[in-house]
Amino acid sequence: PIRQRLLVVANRLPVRANRKGESSWQLDMSIGGLVSALLDSCGILIEDTPDKGITEFETRWIGWAGVNVPDEIGQKSLTEALAEKRCIPVFLDEDLVNLYYNGYCNNILWPLFHYIGLPQEDRLATTRSFQSQFDAYVRANQMFADVVNEHYIEGDIVWCHDYHLMFLPKFLKEHNSTMKVGWFLHTPFPSSEIHRTLPSRSELLRAVLVADLVGFHTYDYARHFVSACTRILGLEGTPDGVEDQGKLTRVAAFPIGIDPGRFIRAIQLPQVKDHIEELKKRFSGRKIMLGVDRLDMIKGIPQKILAFEKFLEENPDWHDKVVLLQIAAPTRTNVLEYQKLTCQVHEIVGRINGRFGSLTTVPIHHLDQTLDFHGLCALYAITGFKKGSSDSKRGAAQSLGAGAILVNPWNITEVASSIAYALNMPAEEREKRHHHNFMHVTTHTSQEWAETFVSELNDTIVEAQLRI
Ligand code: G6P
Repeated sequence: PIRQRLLVVANRLPVRANRKGESSWQLDMSIGGLVSALLDSCGILIEDTPDKGITEFETRWIGWAGVNVPDEIGQKSLTEALAEKRCIPVFLDEDLVNLYYNGYCNNILWPLFHYIGLPQEDRLATTRSFQSQFDAYVRANQMFADVVNEHYIEGDIVWCHDYHLMFLPKFLKEHNSTMKVGWFLHTPFPSSEIHRTLPSRSELLRAVLVADLVGFHTYDYARHFVSACTRILGLEGTPDGVEDQGKLTRVAAFPIGIDPGRFIRAIQLPQVKDHIEELKKRFSGRKIMLGVDRLDMIKGIPQKILAFEKFLEENPDWHDKVVLLQIAAPTRTNVLEYQKLTCQVHEIVGRINGRFGSLTTVPIHHLDQTLDFHGLCALYAITGFKKGSSDSKRGAAQSLGAGAILVNPWNITEVASSIAYALNMPAEEREKRHHHNFMHVTTHTSQEWAETFVSELNDTIVEAQLRI
């Protein structure tokens, strides 16, 4: 059968390039929820797990390779190396990355969409640098659009991703109004009361509305987006989306999943099995709690560690029987708030290990490192605590409801007692909860998510044509 051609456009490619010589490159896998979700759901294979076969799509991925390549030889050789992974680079220079990625995307949109207030003095500084960062954002979006236009073949589906590329639907449709364009947000969309504080609130909404289909993780976020359009732009919200002078932009929720097969295949590999045995020996006699996150303020790492401290305070019997392994992958290290967070976490971990450690053991192993996929799988395999999709915690909590122990992460007393509850849980209850989660994760996969979004996009376009 002929497969649907799909152009995935996201700020970050699934691989990050490291220059090894004038024209030689090493490609490492990128981290983050978006990359994990899209990797094999769209048929892009990066790591060396056995090929699971063909997905419905013939996919190309367009994005930034995470590296500054000012020279032509470098650009040409990197383009060739990426082509083998079906990836197409957008080259952004250092100034642009600083204003667009570090600035507008990660210092303005990201905190705002996650309801994280900046300190007053940072807010004022941001207010002053806002315009130049916004201009860079628009410019970067235009550069992504140019690369899409260069590679587009009629009939392709163009799937734009995330808060980095809110202007992309507009630029693409201005160039070619028949292009099938979808846009999906991998973060929360905030209440209109928050969105309205953004100086470019209207331009961003209007640019996204040019897409045929706009998708969010949860109904709440979709509803927030629709009400931002009605309250800020004065448009009409309908159960299907947003209407502007007879033109409907379809807005809907598509809860994301993972690719469970990828994990199940990995833990059967001999090298992963060996690693699992090693870890079991290393931590024998202790229960292991595992956290795997980018070191980002939205992940609640300090809150989690403080709750663990409280648990240790209240449960001296557990001191040498439990260990918290926290993998905190460094991320956005040029943004000040992330640098501050790193220091803060180190300070808390140091204090707790000093307080509750002994000459031979410490209660927290905190790693500022990115582990490879197989290393992670070994850790997942030895822990009693299983984790759902790494991003959109709220979405994961909503879906895993009955299997997981839900907590308010800001209430460390509650989290501490939930840790105690989990550690003391009878095997039968643990099995039951695990079974519930396992069933959920294996029936709501990332592949199903991608297929649903794309088929909904196709349907939306057919319906729009019927309306004319
Ligand atoms: C989140 C965002 C992604 C992003 C990822 C990693 O999951 O939704 O778009 O790629 O974080 O962040 P980074 O800034 O390294 O791309």
